[in-house]
Amino acid sequence: MSIGYTELESKVRAMIKPKRFIHSEGVAAVSAELAERFGLNVADARYIGIYHDAYRYSADSTSPDFCRIHGIEVFPEEEADPMLLHGALAAIHFDDDAEGPVPDAFKTAVRHHTLGSKEMGPYGAVVYIADYIEPGRKHLTDEDRKHILSAETLEGMIIRIMDMQRAYFIREGIKEAAVSSELYDYIAAGGRL
Ligand SMILES: [Fe+2]
Ligand SMILES: [Fe+2]
Repeated sequence: MSIGYTELESKVRAMIKPKRFIHSEGVAAVSAELAERFGLNVADARYIGIYHDAYRYSADSTSPDFCRIHGIEVFPEEEADPMLLHGALAAIHFDDDAEGPVPDAFKTAVRHHTLGSKEMGPYGAVVYIADYIEPGRKHLTDEDRKHILSAETLEGMIIRIMDMQRAYFIREGIKEAAVSSELYDYIAAGGRL
């Protein structure tokens, strides 16, 4: 038996900076809304959402090896920028922090919320989208939010988000991670999460 949402929320509050905690509350709320809309478990989505960034300030140069020891594949972009592994660290610690085993789908969702993955599952999709559009995110206009939310499926929303990200990557000269491109191509070919 794992701890409930309120207890997990208090733990997370103590683990991250106040601004990040407010972001996490936004992600939990939007995750719950998306779950409701798409017939997923609302409580589960909220639980994953509040926890997704719990290790945001814990990833460092030791994290790639730590993840591998725990059986997690580390992508080249994560090797180069271990901060990206905060989702993987959350996946590793989720059972302990929840004080009981959580479903694998929860761990898969937090593990892949940073770069996305075709393996992330519907809860991964929900948290990935919520992470990008929660109301505290100032990089988006209300129009952008509406545009993303007006897609008919979670996969459609991910494509809209990734198209915006791609435009940003081009402006900034950033190369998209292979695991992200794979997700895009998978969805574009009709794949479902
Ligand atoms: Fe994150
Ligand atoms: Fe986040």
